[in-house]
Amino acid sequence: MKDATSSLPDPFRRCMKHYVAELKDRDDYEARMSEGECASCRRKANKPEYRIFGQKEWRSAYKEGEIECKACADQKELDKVLERNKTGLHEQLTSRFEKEYWHIPDDLKNAGFKNFKVDGYGNVSEAKKAAMDYVKTFAALYPENRYNLTIMGPPGTGKTHLVTAIARTLKEQEFLVMLLTTGALLSKIKATYQKGASQTEEGIFNYLRKADLLVLDDLGSEARSKDEFDWSKNKLFEIINLRIGKPTIYTSNFNEQHLPTAIGERAFSRLYNNNKFIELVTDDYRKNFTIE
Ligand SMILES: Nc1ncnc2c1ncn2[C@@H]1O[C@H](COP(=O)(O)OP(=O)(O)OP(=O)(O)O)[C@@H](O)[C@H]1O
Ligand SMILES: [Mg+2]
Ligand SMILES: [Zn+2]
Repeated sequence: MKDATSSLPDPFRRCMKHYVAELKDRDDYEARMSEGECASCRRKANKPEYRIFGQKEWRSAYKEGEIECKACADQKELDKVLERNKTGLHEQLTSRFEKEYWHIPDDLKNAGFKNFKVDGYGNVSEAKKAAMDYVKTFAALYPENRYNLTIMGPPGTGKTHLVTAIARTLKEQEFLVMLLTTGALLSKIKATYQKGASQTEEGIFNYLRKADLLVLDDLGSEARSKDEFDWSKNKLFEIINLRIGKPTIYTSNFNEQHLPTAIGERAFSRLYNNNKFIELVTDDYRKNFTIE
């Protein structure tokens, strides 16, 4: 039988001190390279061994499960590098999203589910439950169960508060979340048409595609002049379209009856895609803030 062992040069021999506890404080041993079996793929793998002077038995420098062939060791190293790159990319995207696509109004900086009260008139409690269910389904195991949500209702009924609570909770769970008004998004796109703009429209569209969740607040209320109306409607249509199959939340002051006119029939028709509508009926919460 071919001898599979060879003696190791002195630097390797001394190196063993670092991972074999027994050798830490001694130098009276010899070392050799023997042949073992890779714990991952069962192929032949190098197995360094040592023997203390005067003893008969050679011992493995690695524990049984730690022996690895070169291919598996390389693969593991590569996986580590890829994993590091992946988290690096995710961090980069998260900070980009936070800087450019995360607009929380000042009065909602602390808006969450905890401080959303349900003792008001109407269906606030039902709307809150729907919002919390949305988070649950979103974060659950199967991404294909995610859906869109459209919350409609008059001013001050808590629409932005609720969607902010959703967005914040999912963002804390490391999802890439965008939260901004439709008007702000359209302005951002328009800004790319300017000479010397730092971003391109295609760049923004790419981010819109990358978002795990897009929250578009105040659909239909984007301020615009008459001649911008068509442009806005077309852009909205493009945005809603590119988000088909990717979860998106909309809020609007318009109801199902008036939204088609505000955003265009074609865009509106696409809202029905995998969407849950909630019409929030309650008092204007802002009335609670008036000074008497
Ligand atoms: N149920 C509630 N519990 C606690 N605070 C609420 C509730 N509803 C609304 N608010 C508060 O009232 C203010 C207005 O709410 P919000 O901005 O969510 O209204 P909105 O429906 O988005 O109105 P608009 O259509 O004008 O944008 C916010 O400060 C919000 O925190
Ligand atoms: Mg709002
Ligand atoms: Zn292997």
